[in-house]
Amino acid sequence: MQTRIDNPPSRIAPSEVQIDATRLNDELKTLATFTSIEPSPDGTAVTRIVFTSDDLRARAWLKSLAAAAGLVIREDAVGNTFFRWVGAEPDLPAVATGSHIDAIPHAGMYDGTVGVLGGLEAIRALKRSGLRPRRSIELVLLTSEEPTRFGIGCVGSRLISGTLSPERADALHGAQRGHEDETLAQVRAAAGFAGPLSSVCLPSGHYHAWVELHIEQGPLLEREGLPLGIVTAIAAPAGYTFTIEGIGGHAGALLMPDRRDALCAASEIILSIERHALATGVIDTVATVGTCDVYPGAVNSVPSRVTLQVDIRDTDPVRREGVMEGVRRDVEQIRARREVRIAETLVNADQPAISSPHIVQVLDEICRGYGIPAKHLVARAYHDSSFIAGIAPIAMIFIPCRGGVSHRPDEYAAPADIERGARVLASALGKLAAE
Ligand code: HGY
Ligand code: MN
Ligand code: MN
Repeated sequence: MQTRIDNPPSRIAPSEVQIDATRLNDELKTLATFTSIEPSPDGTAVTRIVFTSDDLRARAWLKSLAAAAGLVIREDAVGNTFFRWVGAEPDLPAVATGSHIDAIPHAGMYDGTVGVLGGLEAIRALKRSGLRPRRSIELVLLTSEEPTRFGIGCVGSRLISGTLSPERADALHGAQRGHEDETLAQVRAAAGFAGPLSSVCLPSGHYHAWVELHIEQGPLLEREGLPLGIVTAIAAPAGYTFTIEGIGGHAGALLMPDRRDALCAASEIILSIERHALATGVIDTVATVGTCDVYPGAVNSVPSRVTLQVDIRDTDPVRREGVMEGVRRDVEQIRARREVRIAETLVNADQPAISSPHIVQVLDEICRGYGIPAKHLVARAYHDSSFIAGIAPIAMIFIPCRGGVSHRPDEYAAPADIERGARVLASALGKLAAE
């Protein structure tokens, strides 16, 4: 009988996929060390803002792992990094997986990283099985999934899918206090990513299929005692900023009737956003004001300017827009009554992403083959898959995270769940690459 090496199979039985769970979890712990160290009594705190030294060191480390796995590495002009296992028919559209490694301040160590390192281990496991995939299989590290540095999320995947213009992207300014003057163009060049952003966009059909592995960042799987979820849709995010300008001054000498306190006006807007989100009566409508920048920010100075960053999401963009219409009616009333200036700026208003029924079916079959009870669910966090969906059929695999907690140091995913998610991902990549 021909040995597998001489005649490597292009198809793989799920039973032949062996994930090295110990190595995968060790690598997640190593990746978590690329952070500005913060003591955290309740978990592994990670802060890894895109293009900071922490991020660049993590990227270099990841590239060394991928090189050791024999993958071909390509970086694009915004730092999206592609790790390709060239298939037997390299001209066919590849099968891809990927996610992000940037982390918001005081975050956990599993958001995004499970998809990147889980994807790498899935590819290594397929290689170890002796598979020779018909289609190339590619892992993608996507740049700036978090909105922390530039105020808008998924910069890398938006550019890949053409939903963010290169001009607007390069002109994005820093969204963090003290970084307002930096632009993406400057920061990416300083990080070593040059070239026109117009070269980042990939054509529709570039990928045969895309599957992202991610923690659920919600409580449903854990509450139902389920080890895995298959995402059928991803909620639609929108972002706005409100700038409120009034009359500030001395907290003692400026008499109340003469004040136009920008922070008091802002507080009414914040409560209006909450009230209108709740008023839809639908659990899928969510909204928050995540940042509130007060100027001049001194205890004895009446705030004269406040900038709010609003994050509002829904599975139904029309309902989401209805919430904003209600807020705008309140803003008109606040503006007049408080005699302040209020400016609203749209950052992004995206459509929901719908998973490919075919890929969902492939994942269902694989889970049945493994005897894994899997639930179909909606992703309430957004993900790079939201935008890759613009150029390829997508689906996502969710694994539980303890208490549904995410974007906090106590974010936690159990090694057994991570292994299971990577194993299902590996089997799906292997199956899709044979199509
Ligand atoms: O905010 C989100 O949904 C994602 O975690 N960046
Ligand atoms: Mn996140
Ligand atoms: Mn994420």
